[in-house]
Amino acid sequence: MTSPYVEKNAQNEKSSDVVWHLASVSHEERVTQLNQKPAILWFTGLSGSGKSTIANAVDKMLFDLGIKTYLLDGDNVRHGLNGDLGFSDDDRVENIRRVSEVAKLFVDAGIIVSTAFISPFTSDRKIARDLVDSSQFIEIFIDTPLDVCESRDPKGLYKKARSGEIKNFTGISSAYEEPNAPEIHVKCGEKSIEQCAIQIVDYLRDNNYIR
Ligand code: ADX
Repeated sequence: MTSPYVEKNAQNEKSSDVVWHLASVSHEERVTQLNQKPAILWFTGLSGSGKSTIANAVDKMLFDLGIKTYLLDGDNVRHGLNGDLGFSDDDRVENIRRVSEVAKLFVDAGIIVSTAFISPFTSDRKIARDLVDSSQFIEIFIDTPLDVCESRDPKGLYKKARSGEIKNFTGISSAYEEPNAPEIHVKCGEKSIEQCAIQIVDYLRDNNYIR
C-alpha cells in the first residue's frame, strides 16, 4: 500500500530541487563522542499491550545507566507531529513512515531511540527496518493476548470499539499483523513490567549495544 502522503510528496516539485546538505560532524564522530551503539528499539503490539509502559521502563533503566536515549510514543506524537492523522489504513501508514524517519534521525545523532506505536502492518515495520543498518533496528514484539488487553482496557477504548463508537480499532475492526521474527519477543501477560524491561536491557547488553 502506498501512502497518498508519499505520492503527494513525490509530485511536489520543491522536493526535486532540494539537494542533500553534507554536515560537518559525521555520524561516526557523534557515535565516538557518545561512546554508545545507537539503535531503534521498535516496540510493536496491540493497544493496551504494555508497549508504552515497558518502553518507558526501558528508557528509564538506560537513562539511569548514563545512556543517551529518547522515547517516541504513539499517543504523544499524535498530539503534535502526527496530529493531523487518524486511524484509517492510509493514516497509519503515514504515521509510521514519519516516525520511522524521525527515529532514523535520532540514530544518526547517536541516540538509542525507542518507538512505541501499534504499527500493525508488517510492510510498514519493514520499511522502518530498512531505513537503518540491520544491526540498528531491534523489533520488540509486546505479545499480550487480545483478551488480556481488552480486559485491561486502560482508556476504555475497547469498550467503545465493541459498541461501534470507535471505528477501525486494532484487534477488533482493524488488523494487527504479528511479527514473524522479532529480535525480542516479550510475553507480557506472564511477567511484570520490570521483568519485561529487564529482558530487553539484557538483550542490549548481551548484544553489545550497552556495556
Ligand atoms: S498506529 O496503528 O498508527 O501505530 P498508534 O500507536 O500511533 O497507532 O496509536 C495508537 C493509540 O491511539 C492507542 O493506544 C489508542 O490509545 C489510540 N487509538 C485511538 N483510536 C484508535 C484506533 N482506532 N485503533 C487503535 N488505537 C486507537
